[in-house]
Amino acid sequence: MSLFRGKKILLGISGGIAAYKTPELVRAFIKQGAEVRVLMTPSSKDFVTPLTLATVSQNPVYSSLIAEDHDNPTWNNHVELALWADYFLIAPATSNTLSSMAQARCNNIVLAAYLSSKCPVFVAPAMDLDMFSHPANQKNLTILLKNNVIVLPTEEGFLASGLEGKGRMPEPEDILTHMENHISKTLPLFGKKVVITAGPTYEPIDPVRFIGNNSSGKMGLELAKRAAELGARVILISGPSAINIADNSIDLVSVVTADQMFENAKLHFNDADIFIASAAVADFKPEASYLQKIKKGTGFNKINLVPTPDILAYLGSIKKNQFLLGFALETENELENAKEKLKKKNLDAIVLNSLNDEHAGFGGDQNKITYIQSNQAPLSFELKSKTEVAFDIFVQILKTYEKLY
Ligand code: CTP
Repeated sequence: MSLFRGKKILLGISGGIAAYKTPELVRAFIKQGAEVRVLMTPSSKDFVTPLTLATVSQNPVYSSLIAEDHDNPTWNNHVELALWADYFLIAPATSNTLSSMAQARCNNIVLAAYLSSKCPVFVAPAMDLDMFSHPANQKNLTILLKNNVIVLPTEEGFLASGLEGKGRMPEPEDILTHMENHISKTLPLFGKKVVITAGPTYEPIDPVRFIGNNSSGKMGLELAKRAAELGARVILISGPSAINIADNSIDLVSVVTADQMFENAKLHFNDADIFIASAAVADFKPEASYLQKIKKGTGFNKINLVPTPDILAYLGSIKKNQFLLGFALETENELENAKEKLKKKNLDAIVLNSLNDEHAGFGGDQNKITYIQSNQAPLSFELKSKTEVAFDIFVQILKTYEKLY
């Protein structure tokens, strides 16, 4: 999953040869799930066409401060566009554009949007090697850095002049990587390890039968995605799940039984910062699992059950600085039972899932939760998608976590 998923990217293009790479740049952002709007300086249109960029971005492209309708001129709202963006990238950023930015000059829509922006602004300088190393350009870059502009590195290689050296704009994928590296360091869970258990566990009776439950693992996956978006390193310990968990920002540990989930939870708990137990762990397992399929007519009619380890209770008993969050699935005396579990398992917080709420819980895409912490009034949320529920849960976790650590 990408940090750009759902983000709004404003791309400003200035007039250098590297502008020919910008349609690919737009595509790369869109591929990562971002929305892109493009602003162009007039001279950049000599290198790449507005039609190409409007087509790949699927949005109108603006290259002047005023809409070019002679009978009915209107203002292209650079302020609105600047405030719309989560991130503003100027690529390529020419010597002319960088010096104008450093001097607060405002004679085109890219510069006007830059001066109106409040979001993080990235520039990808692109010019000939001597121009790039000229003290005037280096001075301008220092001014921009002081003004909180993030200057992306230039690459060495063949330049349009025929010379070879430093000044090339990085390839689109590399620009995204540089931006991601920077953005991830500003996220609230950067450098933190979040471990999440999810899904059901299957306790084998014989090689083809098991004791299990209807948990889909969706809630755990959404929590894992949200933790990754917040910058954490995420380990998702998941029982058998039909949903697709392939996501390069999540380390997936696939398990089948409660015992396997327990072993992996212990392995990852010591250096975890936040541990969330959202798995629906089977409470009982067959005392013995048959190696061969049990045949009809053998008189088999009874399974002896023994308890599985209570993973969360064990982690609560050895916990040091970890923030430990559990789930409670209740059908009666919900609040009371959930509060009891919070205390008994030594948790920092517990999320109550009620199976009495229609559409909420186990297999579906929605959930209705109450977030409970000791010494605080329980916080009840509306029925929401599991993506939104994961968002709400992390808002609550961060409120406490940031105070504690
Ligand atoms: N849990 C766990 N290991 C178990 C059972 C539960 O880690 N063997 C965790 C769940 O992941 C959840 C919390 O404990 O975060 C509560 O699970 P729940 O099924 O609601 O309660 P139980 O502890 O199993 O108790 P009961 O079935 O009696 O309600």
